Amino acid sequence: MTTTDHEHERALGDWTPQQLEDNGHALLAYLREHFETLRSQPVTTRKSAQDIRAQIHEPLPTDPQPFPDVLRQTWQDVTPNLTHWNHPRFHAYFSNSSSGPAILGEMATAALNVNVMLWDSAPAAAAVEMTVLEWLADMLAYPRGGDAVLVDGASLATLYALAAARERLTDLDIRNRGLAAAPPLRVYASDQTHSSIDKAAITLGIGLDNVVRIPATADGTLAPSALDAAIRRDTRAGHRPLAVVANIGSTSTGSIDPLEDIARVCDGHDLWLHADAAYGGFWRLAGQVRPHLPDLSVADSVVANPHKVLLCPMEASALLCRHTDALTNAFRLVPEYLSTRHEDGSVDFMNYSLQLGRQFRALKLWWIIKSFGMRGICDRLEAAADLADHLRKAAGNAPHWQVVNPSTPLPLVCLRYAPPHLTGEQVDEINQRIHRQINARGSSYVSHTVLECGYVIRVSIGNIHTRGDDIDALWHELTTAAATAQEGTQG
Ligand SMILES: Cc1ncc(COP(=O)(O)O)c(C=O)c1O
Repeated sequence: MTTTDHEHERALGDWTPQQLEDNGHALLAYLREHFETLRSQPVTTRKSAQDIRAQIHEPLPTDPQPFPDVLRQTWQDVTPNLTHWNHPRFHAYFSNSSSGPAILGEMATAALNVNVMLWDSAPAAAAVEMTVLEWLADMLAYPRGGDAVLVDGASLATLYALAAARERLTDLDIRNRGLAAAPPLRVYASDQTHSSIDKAAITLGIGLDNVVRIPATADGTLAPSALDAAIRRDTRAGHRPLAVVANIGSTSTGSIDPLEDIARVCDGHDLWLHADAAYGGFWRLAGQVRPHLPDLSVADSVVANPHKVLLCPMEASALLCRHTDALTNAFRLVPEYLSTRHEDGSVDFMNYSLQLGRQFRALKLWWIIKSFGMRGICDRLEAAADLADHLRKAAGNAPHWQVVNPSTPLPLVCLRYAPPHLTGEQVDEINQRIHRQINARGSSYVSHTVLECGYVIRVSIGNIHTRGDDIDALWHELTTAAATAQEGTQG
Protein backbone atom coordinates (compact mmCIF):
# COMPACT_ATOMS: atom_id res chain seq x y z
CA MET A 1 0.00 0.00 0.00
CA THR A 2 1.32 3.44 -0.83
CA THR A 3 0.35 6.80 0.57
CA THR A 4 0.55 10.16 -1.10
CA ASP A 5 2.76 12.81 0.49
CA HIS A 6 -0.34 14.57 1.64
CA GLU A 7 -1.87 11.49 3.29
CA HIS A 8 1.45 10.66 4.94
CA GLU A 9 1.73 14.10 6.44
CA ARG A 10 -1.84 13.97 7.69
CA ALA A 11 -1.80 10.47 9.13
CA LEU A 12 1.78 9.50 9.85
CA GLY A 13 4.33 12.25 9.56
CA ASP A 14 5.36 14.89 12.05
CA TRP A 15 3.76 18.30 12.28
CA THR A 16 4.31 20.24 9.09
CA PRO A 17 6.98 22.94 9.34
CA GLN A 18 4.14 25.46 9.29
CA GLN A 19 2.44 23.75 12.24
CA LEU A 20 5.75 23.73 14.10
CA GLU A 21 6.06 27.47 13.61
CA ASP A 22 2.43 28.14 14.59
CA ASN A 23 2.57 25.97 17.70
CA GLY A 24 5.97 27.45 18.53
CA HIS A 25 4.46 30.93 18.42
CA ALA A 26 1.66 29.73 20.70
CA LEU A 27 4.20 28.36 23.19
CA LEU A 28 6.24 31.57 23.06
CA ALA A 29 3.10 33.57 23.78
CA TYR A 30 2.58 31.49 26.94
CA LEU A 31 6.22 31.97 27.90
CA ARG A 32 6.00 35.67 27.33
CA GLU A 33 3.06 35.91 29.73
CA HIS A 34 4.81 33.56 32.14
CA PHE A 35 7.83 35.85 32.38
CA GLU A 36 5.74 39.03 32.43
CA THR A 37 3.79 37.83 35.46
CA LEU A 38 6.28 35.54 37.21
CA ARG A 39 7.31 37.96 39.96
CA SER A 40 3.74 38.23 41.21
CA GLN A 41 3.10 34.46 41.03
CA PRO A 42 3.74 32.23 44.05
CA VAL A 43 7.19 30.62 43.94
CA THR A 44 5.70 27.29 44.90
CA THR A 45 2.37 25.52 45.00
CA ARG A 46 0.33 24.99 48.14
CA LYS A 47 -1.35 21.85 46.85
CA SER A 48 -0.71 18.46 48.41
CA ALA A 49 1.13 15.73 46.53
CA GLN A 50 -2.09 13.74 46.25
CA ASP A 51 -4.01 16.65 44.79
CA ILE A 52 -1.31 17.32 42.22
CA ARG A 53 -1.16 13.64 41.29
CA ALA A 54 -4.93 13.57 40.90
CA GLN A 55 -4.91 16.71 38.79
CA ILE A 56 -2.30 15.31 36.38
CA HIS A 57 -3.53 11.74 36.31
CA GLU A 58 -5.39 10.61 33.18
CA PRO A 59 -5.62 7.46 31.10
CA LEU A 60 -3.12 6.89 28.32
CA PRO A 61 -4.30 9.17 25.48
CA THR A 62 -5.44 7.27 22.38
CA ASP A 63 -6.55 9.99 20.03
CA PRO A 64 -4.43 12.94 19.01
CA GLN A 65 -5.07 16.14 20.94
CA PRO A 66 -4.71 19.59 19.39
CA PHE A 67 -1.49 21.16 20.64
CA PRO A 68 -3.24 24.36 21.81
CA ASP A 69 -5.24 22.11 24.18
CA VAL A 70 -2.06 20.45 25.41
CA LEU A 71 -0.55 23.86 26.07
CA ARG A 72 -3.70 25.05 27.84
CA GLN A 73 -3.67 21.98 30.09
CA THR A 74 0.03 22.45 30.84
CA TRP A 75 -0.56 26.02 32.00
CA GLN A 76 -3.64 24.98 33.93
CA ASP A 77 -2.34 21.86 35.69
CA VAL A 78 1.44 21.81 35.56
CA THR A 79 2.99 25.26 35.78
CA PRO A 80 0.87 26.44 38.75
CA ASN A 81 1.94 23.31 40.63
CA LEU A 82 5.68 23.71 40.28
CA THR A 83 8.34 25.19 42.50
CA HIS A 84 9.65 27.85 40.16
CA TRP A 85 13.42 27.79 40.12
CA ASN A 86 13.47 30.55 37.53
CA HIS A 87 11.49 32.86 39.82
CA PRO A 88 13.25 36.06 40.90
CA ARG A 89 12.37 35.27 44.53
CA PHE A 90 13.58 31.66 44.51
CA HIS A 91 16.55 31.58 46.90
CA ALA A 92 16.63 27.93 47.93
CA TYR A 93 19.43 25.40 47.31
CA PHE A 94 21.41 27.28 44.66
CA SER A 95 19.39 29.91 42.89
CA ASN A 96 20.08 29.62 39.16
CA SER A 97 18.73 30.95 35.87
CA SER A 98 17.40 29.83 32.56
CA SER A 99 18.01 32.78 30.26
CA GLY A 100 16.47 33.62 26.88
CA PRO A 101 19.28 32.35 24.65
CA ALA A 102 19.45 29.10 26.62
CA ILE A 103 15.70 28.52 26.38
CA LEU A 104 15.85 28.84 22.61
CA GLY A 105 19.11 26.88 22.53
CA GLU A 106 17.41 23.88 24.13
CA MET A 107 14.67 24.06 21.53
CA ALA A 108 17.20 24.10 18.71
CA THR A 109 19.12 21.22 20.33
CA ALA A 110 15.97 19.10 20.28
CA ALA A 111 15.16 20.10 16.71
CA LEU A 112 18.62 19.21 15.40
CA ASN A 113 18.67 16.05 17.53
CA VAL A 114 22.31 15.27 16.82
CA ASN A 115 24.13 12.69 18.91
CA VAL A 116 27.52 14.05 19.98
CA MET A 117 29.14 10.68 20.62
CA LEU A 118 31.58 10.50 17.71
CA TRP A 119 33.08 13.28 15.62
CA ASP A 120 31.42 11.78 12.54
CA SER A 121 28.04 11.58 14.23
CA ALA A 122 27.92 15.34 14.89
CA PRO A 123 31.01 17.11 13.55
CA ALA A 124 30.28 20.81 14.14
CA ALA A 125 28.46 20.03 17.41
CA ALA A 126 31.64 18.37 18.72
CA ALA A 127 33.60 21.42 17.53
CA VAL A 128 31.20 23.75 19.39
CA GLU A 129 31.58 21.63 22.53
CA MET A 130 35.39 21.84 22.24
CA THR A 131 35.26 25.61 21.86
CA VAL A 132 32.78 26.04 24.71
CA LEU A 133 34.96 23.88 26.97
CA GLU A 134 37.97 26.06 26.14
CA TRP A 135 35.95 29.18 26.94
CA LEU A 136 34.77 27.68 30.23
CA ALA A 137 38.38 26.78 31.11
CA ASP A 138 39.37 30.41 30.39
CA MET A 139 36.58 31.66 32.65
CA LEU A 140 37.93 29.45 35.44
CA ALA A 141 41.57 30.33 34.63
CA TYR A 142 42.13 26.61 34.25
CA PRO A 143 44.62 25.38 31.63
CA ARG A 144 43.21 24.42 28.24
CA GLY A 145 44.39 21.31 26.51
CA GLY A 146 43.70 18.50 28.96
CA ASP A 147 40.67 16.21 28.79
CA ALA A 148 37.35 18.02 29.12
CA VAL A 149 33.71 17.15 28.64
CA LEU A 150 30.22 18.49 29.29
CA VAL A 151 28.06 16.22 31.44
CA ASP A 152 24.63 16.47 33.01
CA GLY A 153 25.68 17.43 36.53
CA ALA A 154 28.48 17.71 39.05
CA SER A 155 27.60 14.39 40.70
CA LEU A 156 28.56 12.46 37.60
CA ALA A 157 31.49 14.77 36.86
CA THR A 158 32.96 13.95 40.26
CA LEU A 159 32.36 10.25 39.70
CA TYR A 160 34.24 10.50 36.39
CA ALA A 161 37.07 12.46 38.01
CA LEU A 162 37.49 9.79 40.68
CA ALA A 163 37.38 7.10 37.99
CA ALA A 164 40.21 8.95 36.22
CA ALA A 165 42.14 9.11 39.49
CA ARG A 166 41.63 5.37 39.98
CA GLU A 167 42.83 4.64 36.45
CA ARG A 168 46.04 6.44 37.25
CA LEU A 169 46.95 3.68 39.75
CA THR A 170 48.42 1.66 36.91
CA ASP A 171 50.01 -0.94 39.20
CA LEU A 172 46.54 -2.05 40.31
CA ASP A 173 45.13 -2.25 36.76
CA ILE A 174 41.60 -1.99 38.17
CA ARG A 175 40.11 -1.50 34.73
CA ASN A 176 40.95 -5.11 33.88
CA ARG A 177 41.25 -6.86 37.22
CA GLY A 178 38.53 -5.11 39.18
CA LEU A 179 38.87 -4.21 42.82
CA ALA A 180 39.01 -7.68 44.39
CA ALA A 181 42.79 -7.78 44.80
CA ALA A 182 43.26 -4.06 45.46
CA PRO A 183 43.86 -2.59 48.92
CA PRO A 184 41.15 -0.25 50.25
CA LEU A 185 41.27 2.96 48.20
CA ARG A 186 40.73 6.08 50.27
CA VAL A 187 39.18 9.39 49.29
CA TYR A 188 39.55 12.43 51.55
CA ALA A 189 37.27 15.42 51.96
CA SER A 190 35.99 17.68 54.69
CA ASP A 191 32.70 16.88 56.35
CA GLN A 192 31.26 19.87 54.43
CA THR A 193 31.77 18.19 51.05
CA HIS A 194 28.74 17.31 48.95
CA SER A 195 27.11 13.88 49.19
CA SER A 196 27.95 13.22 45.52
CA ILE A 197 31.40 12.13 46.75
CA ASP A 198 29.73 9.38 48.78
CA LYS A 199 27.57 8.35 45.84
CA ALA A 200 30.66 8.18 43.62
CA ALA A 201 32.40 6.01 46.23
CA ILE A 202 29.41 3.65 46.33
CA THR A 203 29.29 3.41 42.55
CA LEU A 204 33.02 3.00 41.97
CA GLY A 205 33.31 0.22 44.54
CA ILE A 206 35.45 2.40 46.82
CA GLY A 207 32.84 2.07 49.55
CA LEU A 208 31.44 4.61 51.96
CA ASP A 209 33.78 3.44 54.73
CA ASN A 210 36.69 4.60 52.61
CA VAL A 211 35.49 8.17 52.25
CA VAL A 212 37.47 9.85 55.00
CA ARG A 213 35.43 12.83 56.19
CA ILE A 214 37.71 15.22 58.03
CA PRO A 215 35.92 17.60 60.43
CA ALA A 216 36.01 21.08 58.95
CA THR A 217 37.49 24.07 60.75
CA ALA A 218 35.22 26.72 62.29
CA ASP A 219 34.90 28.47 58.90
CA GLY A 220 33.85 25.23 57.20
CA THR A 221 37.13 24.43 55.43
CA LEU A 222 39.50 21.49 55.18
CA ALA A 223 42.68 22.02 57.20
CA PRO A 224 45.71 20.84 55.18
CA SER A 225 47.49 19.64 58.36
CA ALA A 226 44.51 17.44 59.34
CA LEU A 227 44.39 16.10 55.79
CA ASP A 228 48.09 15.29 55.83
CA ALA A 229 47.75 13.50 59.18
CA ALA A 230 44.80 11.41 57.92
CA ILE A 231 46.69 10.34 54.80
CA ARG A 232 49.76 9.35 56.82
CA ARG A 233 47.63 7.34 59.25
CA ASP A 234 45.97 5.48 56.39
CA THR A 235 49.23 4.74 54.60
CA ARG A 236 50.62 3.21 57.79
CA ALA A 237 47.46 1.09 58.07
CA GLY A 238 47.99 -0.36 54.56
CA HIS A 239 45.28 1.66 52.81
CA ARG A 240 45.86 3.20 49.41
CA PRO A 241 45.15 6.93 49.34
CA LEU A 242 43.54 7.78 46.02
CA ALA A 243 42.22 11.32 45.88
CA VAL A 244 41.22 14.45 47.74
CA VAL A 245 38.04 16.39 46.96
CA ALA A 246 38.23 20.08 47.88
CA ASN A 247 35.32 22.51 48.08
CA ILE A 248 35.22 25.70 46.09
CA GLY A 249 31.86 26.74 47.45
CA SER A 250 30.47 24.13 49.80
CA THR A 251 26.77 23.37 49.62
CA SER A 252 25.79 24.44 53.12
CA THR A 253 27.70 27.68 53.48
CA GLY A 254 29.77 28.36 50.34
CA SER A 255 33.04 27.73 52.17
CA ILE A 256 36.22 27.58 50.11
CA ASP A 257 39.01 25.17 50.95
CA PRO A 258 42.65 26.38 50.81
CA LEU A 259 43.27 24.69 47.48
CA GLU A 260 46.91 25.63 46.96
CA ASP A 261 47.93 24.28 50.40
CA ILE A 262 45.85 21.16 49.84
CA ALA A 263 47.58 20.71 46.46
CA ARG A 264 50.94 20.71 48.22
CA VAL A 265 49.75 17.92 50.54
CA CYS A 266 48.47 15.98 47.51
CA ASP A 267 51.79 16.43 45.70
CA GLY A 268 53.63 15.12 48.74
CA HIS A 269 51.60 11.91 48.68
CA ASP A 270 51.08 11.69 44.92
CA LEU A 271 47.30 12.00 45.25
CA TRP A 272 44.76 13.23 42.71
CA LEU A 273 43.17 16.55 43.68
CA HIS A 274 39.62 17.14 42.46
CA ALA A 275 38.13 20.61 43.00
CA ASP A 276 34.38 20.58 43.48
CA ALA A 277 33.74 24.07 42.12
CA ALA A 278 30.21 23.08 41.07
CA TYR A 279 28.86 26.19 42.76
CA GLY A 280 31.84 28.46 43.37
CA GLY A 281 33.77 28.08 40.10
CA PHE A 282 32.02 30.48 37.75
CA TRP A 283 31.51 33.13 40.44
CA ARG A 284 35.12 33.90 39.62
CA LEU A 285 33.63 36.04 36.87
CA ALA A 286 32.32 38.51 39.43
CA GLY A 287 35.11 41.03 40.04
CA GLN A 288 34.43 41.35 43.77
CA VAL A 289 34.51 37.54 44.25
CA ARG A 290 37.56 36.73 42.09
CA PRO A 291 40.31 37.85 44.51
CA HIS A 292 38.90 35.50 47.16
CA LEU A 293 39.05 32.35 45.05
CA PRO A 294 42.11 30.11 44.87
CA ASP A 295 44.05 29.18 41.75
CA LEU A 296 42.11 26.22 40.33
CA SER A 297 44.94 25.22 38.03
CA VAL A 298 46.65 23.37 40.91
CA ALA A 299 43.85 20.77 40.81
CA ASP A 300 44.13 17.65 38.63
CA SER A 301 40.44 18.01 37.81
CA VAL A 302 37.73 20.58 38.35
CA VAL A 303 33.97 20.44 38.06
CA ALA A 304 32.06 23.69 37.63
CA ASN A 305 28.35 23.91 36.85
CA PRO A 306 27.07 26.34 34.24
CA HIS A 307 23.62 25.23 35.39
CA LYS A 308 24.27 26.72 38.82
CA VAL A 309 25.78 30.04 37.81
CA LEU A 310 26.12 30.76 34.09
CA LEU A 311 22.50 31.75 33.27
CA CYS A 312 22.01 28.23 32.00
CA PRO A 313 19.16 25.79 32.73
CA MET A 314 19.59 22.24 33.99
CA GLU A 315 21.57 20.19 32.85
CA ALA A 316 25.10 21.40 32.13
CA SER A 317 28.25 20.69 34.07
CA ALA A 318 31.85 21.05 32.90
CA LEU A 319 34.50 18.53 33.89
CA LEU A 320 38.02 19.71 33.13
CA CYS A 321 41.21 17.72 33.71
CA ARG A 322 44.72 19.11 33.57
CA HIS A 323 46.01 15.88 32.04
CA THR A 324 45.53 14.71 28.49
CA ASP A 325 44.14 11.15 28.37
CA ALA A 326 43.08 11.16 32.03
CA LEU A 327 39.42 10.63 31.17
CA THR A 328 39.94 8.75 27.95
CA ASN A 329 42.20 6.19 29.64
CA ALA A 330 39.34 5.46 31.99
CA PHE A 331 36.48 5.49 29.49
CA ARG A 332 37.75 4.74 25.99
CA LEU A 333 36.18 1.53 24.73
CA VAL A 334 35.30 1.26 21.07
CA PRO A 335 33.27 -1.67 19.77
CA GLU A 336 33.44 -2.32 16.04
CA TYR A 337 30.06 -0.78 15.32
CA LEU A 338 31.32 2.53 16.70
CA SER A 339 34.78 2.56 15.18
CA THR A 340 35.44 5.45 12.81
CA ARG A 341 38.50 6.82 11.08
CA HIS A 342 40.28 9.31 13.35
CA GLU A 343 40.86 12.66 11.77
CA ASP A 344 43.32 15.27 13.07
CA GLY A 345 41.53 17.77 15.27
CA SER A 346 38.49 15.58 15.85
CA VAL A 347 37.20 14.41 19.24
CA ASP A 348 34.95 11.45 20.04
CA PHE A 349 33.19 12.61 23.19
CA MET A 350 31.84 9.13 23.94
CA ASN A 351 35.37 8.31 25.17
CA TYR A 352 35.30 10.94 27.92
CA SER A 353 32.55 9.57 30.15
CA LEU A 354 30.15 6.66 30.57
CA GLN A 355 27.63 8.30 28.30
CA LEU A 356 27.39 7.09 24.72
CA GLY A 357 24.39 8.93 23.23
CA ARG A 358 24.88 12.59 24.14
CA GLN A 359 22.75 15.62 23.40
CA PHE A 360 24.16 18.80 21.85
CA ARG A 361 24.45 20.35 25.30
CA ALA A 362 27.06 22.87 24.23
CA LEU A 363 24.69 24.78 21.96
CA LYS A 364 22.79 26.51 24.76
CA LEU A 365 26.09 27.53 26.36
CA TRP A 366 27.45 28.79 23.05
CA TRP A 367 24.33 30.91 22.62
CA ILE A 368 24.43 32.23 26.21
CA ILE A 369 28.09 33.21 26.00
CA LYS A 370 27.75 34.81 22.56
CA SER A 371 24.45 36.57 23.32
CA PHE A 372 25.46 38.14 26.64
CA GLY A 373 29.19 38.32 25.97
CA MET A 374 31.61 38.06 28.85
CA ARG A 375 30.85 41.64 29.77
CA GLY A 376 27.13 40.94 30.06
CA ILE A 377 27.66 37.77 32.10
CA CYS A 378 30.16 39.40 34.48
CA ASP A 379 27.88 42.42 35.01
CA ARG A 380 24.97 40.17 35.91
CA LEU A 381 27.00 38.05 38.33
CA GLU A 382 28.46 41.14 39.96
CA ALA A 383 24.96 42.55 40.44
CA ALA A 384 23.90 39.31 42.19
CA ALA A 385 26.97 39.41 44.44
CA ASP A 386 26.08 43.03 45.35
CA LEU A 387 22.55 41.95 46.29
CA ALA A 388 23.99 39.33 48.64
CA ASP A 389 26.17 42.00 50.27
CA HIS A 390 23.09 44.17 50.65
CA LEU A 391 21.28 41.36 52.51
CA ARG A 392 24.35 40.62 54.65
CA LYS A 393 24.51 44.28 55.67
CA ALA A 394 20.79 44.41 56.48
CA ALA A 395 21.07 41.29 58.66
CA GLY A 396 24.35 42.45 60.21
CA ASN A 397 22.69 45.69 61.36
CA ALA A 398 19.49 44.11 62.69
CA PRO A 399 19.12 43.03 66.31
CA HIS A 400 19.43 39.27 66.94
CA TRP A 401 20.15 38.34 63.32
CA GLN A 402 23.44 36.62 62.59
CA VAL A 403 25.16 35.99 59.27
CA VAL A 404 26.72 32.66 60.14
CA ASN A 405 28.91 32.34 57.02
CA PRO A 406 30.53 35.78 56.86
CA SER A 407 33.74 34.45 55.32
CA THR A 408 32.30 33.32 51.98
CA PRO A 409 32.60 35.80 49.11
CA LEU A 410 29.86 33.88 47.25
CA PRO A 411 26.26 35.14 47.13
CA LEU A 412 24.98 32.56 49.60
CA VAL A 413 23.85 34.13 52.86
CA CYS A 414 23.18 31.86 55.83
CA LEU A 415 21.06 33.57 58.45
CA ARG A 416 20.01 32.71 61.97
CA TYR A 417 17.70 34.68 64.16
CA ALA A 418 19.02 34.22 67.70
CA PRO A 419 17.62 36.36 70.51
CA PRO A 420 20.11 35.91 73.37
CA HIS A 421 17.59 35.06 76.10
CA LEU A 422 16.42 31.90 74.28
CA THR A 423 17.95 28.42 74.45
CA GLY A 424 19.60 26.83 71.41
CA GLU A 425 16.59 24.56 70.98
CA GLN A 426 14.17 27.48 71.04
CA VAL A 427 16.28 29.34 68.50
CA ASP A 428 16.29 26.28 66.25
CA GLU A 429 12.54 26.08 66.54
CA ILE A 430 12.10 29.77 65.71
CA ASN A 431 14.30 29.49 62.62
CA GLN A 432 12.40 26.44 61.43
CA ARG A 433 9.17 28.39 61.85
CA ILE A 434 10.55 31.37 59.94
CA HIS A 435 11.62 29.05 57.14
CA ARG A 436 8.24 27.30 57.01
CA GLN A 437 6.30 30.54 57.16
CA ILE A 438 8.19 32.14 54.29
CA ASN A 439 7.84 29.13 52.03
CA ALA A 440 4.18 28.63 52.91
CA ARG A 441 3.39 32.24 52.04
CA GLY A 442 4.96 31.59 48.68
CA SER A 443 6.11 35.05 47.67
CA SER A 444 9.75 34.09 48.38
CA TYR A 445 11.37 30.69 48.80
CA VAL A 446 14.42 29.72 50.88
CA SER A 447 16.08 26.53 52.12
CA HIS A 448 18.00 25.55 55.23
CA THR A 449 21.00 23.73 56.59
CA VAL A 450 22.12 22.62 60.02
CA LEU A 451 25.51 23.80 61.25
CA GLU A 452 27.34 23.61 64.54
CA CYS A 453 25.28 26.58 65.77
CA GLY A 454 22.03 24.86 64.79
CA TYR A 455 19.27 25.39 62.23
CA VAL A 456 20.14 28.05 59.67
CA ILE A 457 18.19 29.68 56.81
CA ARG A 458 20.05 29.68 53.49
CA VAL A 459 19.46 32.48 51.00
CA SER A 460 21.09 31.93 47.62
CA ILE A 461 21.06 34.86 45.20
CA GLY A 462 21.84 34.33 41.53
CA ASN A 463 18.74 34.38 39.38
CA ILE A 464 18.98 36.65 36.36
CA HIS A 465 15.60 38.26 37.19
CA THR A 466 16.33 39.04 40.87
CA ARG A 467 16.43 42.76 41.73
CA GLY A 468 17.02 44.84 44.82
CA ASP A 469 13.29 45.07 45.58
CA ASP A 470 13.09 41.25 45.66
CA ILE A 471 15.80 41.13 48.31
CA ASP A 472 14.16 43.95 50.27
CA ALA A 473 10.86 42.05 50.12
CA LEU A 474 12.58 38.88 51.37
CA TRP A 475 14.24 40.75 54.22
CA HIS A 476 10.91 42.26 55.19
CA GLU A 477 9.36 38.78 55.18
CA LEU A 478 12.21 37.36 57.27
CA THR A 479 11.91 40.03 59.93
CA THR A 480 8.11 39.81 60.01
CA ALA A 481 8.24 36.02 60.27
CA ALA A 482 10.85 36.29 63.04
CA ALA A 483 8.58 38.55 65.10
CA THR A 484 5.65 36.16 64.68
CA ALA A 485 7.75 33.08 65.39
CA GLN A 486 9.17 34.63 68.54
CA GLU A 487 5.70 35.50 69.81
CA GLY A 488 4.78 31.84 69.29
CA THR A 489 7.73 30.74 71.43
CA GLN A 490 7.05 33.18 74.25
CA GLY A 491 3.33 32.47 74.26
C1 LIG B 1 29.11 21.70 46.01
C2 LIG B 1 28.25 20.80 45.18
N1 LIG B 1 28.81 19.79 44.50
C3 LIG B 1 28.09 18.94 43.74
C4 LIG B 1 26.72 19.08 43.63
C5 LIG B 1 25.94 18.14 42.77
O1 LIG B 1 25.56 18.86 41.66
P1 LIG B 1 24.59 18.27 40.53
O2 LIG B 1 23.21 18.54 41.01
O3 LIG B 1 24.96 19.06 39.31
O4 LIG B 1 24.89 16.82 40.38
C6 LIG B 1 26.09 20.11 44.32
C7 LIG B 1 24.64 20.31 44.23
O5 LIG B 1 24.07 21.25 44.67
C8 LIG B 1 26.87 20.98 45.13
O6 LIG B 1 26.30 21.96 45.84
